[in-house]
Amino acid sequence: MQSEAISLASPLQARVEKVIAASGGWIGFDRFMQLALYEPGLGYYANTAPKFGAMPASGSDFITAPELSPLFGQTLAVQVREALDATGSDDVWEFGAGSGALAAQMMKSLGERVHRYHIVDVSGTLRARQQAALAAWGEQVQWHDTLPEAISGVVIGNEVLDAMPVQLLARLNGVWHERGVALHGNGFAWADRPSPLQPPFPIEGEHDVVTEIHPQARAFISTLAACLRAGTGGAAFFLDYGFPEAEYYHPQRIGGTLVCHRAHQVDDNPLIDVGIKDITAHVDFTGIAMTAQDAGLSVLGYTSQGRFLLNCGMAELMQTVSLPERATAMKLVAEHEMGELFKVIGFSTSDSWVARGFAEGDRTHRL
Ligand SMILES: C[S@@+](CC[C@H](N)C(=O)[O-])C[C@H]1O[C@@H](n2cnc3c(N)ncnc32)[C@H](O)[C@@H]1O
Repeated sequence: MQSEAISLASPLQARVEKVIAASGGWIGFDRFMQLALYEPGLGYYANTAPKFGAMPASGSDFITAPELSPLFGQTLAVQVREALDATGSDDVWEFGAGSGALAAQMMKSLGERVHRYHIVDVSGTLRARQQAALAAWGEQVQWHDTLPEAISGVVIGNEVLDAMPVQLLARLNGVWHERGVALHGNGFAWADRPSPLQPPFPIEGEHDVVTEIHPQARAFISTLAACLRAGTGGAAFFLDYGFPEAEYYHPQRIGGTLVCHRAHQVDDNPLIDVGIKDITAHVDFTGIAMTAQDAGLSVLGYTSQGRFLLNCGMAELMQTVSLPERATAMKLVAEHEMGELFKVIGFSTSDSWVARGFAEGDRTHRL
């Protein structure tokens, strides 16, 4: 494990050092996270390490819902089929498709109802993995490097918003700073600069806090909304861990939500082992909803993943599988597992339909 760490991390570390030096000795954390995760050929999502899997023995770092159980994709497909019908569209667009597991589950469930299944992923190595996993569907699945001008169809993204680089803010002795990264000996160190940036929701009190803001995720939603509005009709569903702003910027959350995942362990130091662990922050769902609305989309709903999957009929689907498969799928909806921390938000170009996934337990009013 150690030798792999050295061989993968060193060229990336050198690259990050060069960028910091060329930037006058300091870069914002969003730039650091972009390099650590996505620097071509070197970043965590650009290298060939396994990443997704159930156990550390496979060399994986974390598990996601579609990797855990095929019932995830089968159930989401119920919502996607309804959205295709409601918006009069035939194509599905998946952002950040990982190993291709969710795409395969969707294609198995939706079959000929999907004219084209489009994948957009910033990772070239993951694209190769997706192409191998989805070879059976031939031309029906297509990959894109960039967003087209217009999208007519249903967009999905599981755990993609949490993988987008965030800016870090630190309130120290009552003064807001942007937390960035500087060189320190043979490695990196945190470095704070006073900044006019502040969280979108006031954090009560005067105590020191570190938190995140999400301009990249918001810019992504804005661009996506423009694409959807330029098409003939569409909807979007994003599933991820996160909270509304009042909870995200709660005064007791003094350390923010930034974490790293490696070998199914969590740590809070992204400045070491750069490129061999995932870095992620929770999603500010209020910010995502407001951005989509400002860009002209209607919010279809916002609820917990557990509620959403049950609304889409997962309990009935569970009756059709073996007991061990059912027990695994339970983790997707159980409150103490992924059912409550993970949320689902949905948007549409038209507000003339009610999405089944939000029919009961919609929490849009809490955003
Ligand atoms: C945590 S993984 C989730 C993978 C998969 N959706 C799953 O649930 O297993 C994050 C994925 O998002 C991709 N990604 C990150 N930023 C992206 C962006 N701006 N556009 C498209 N894909 C992105 C990464 O390359 C990776 O495939």
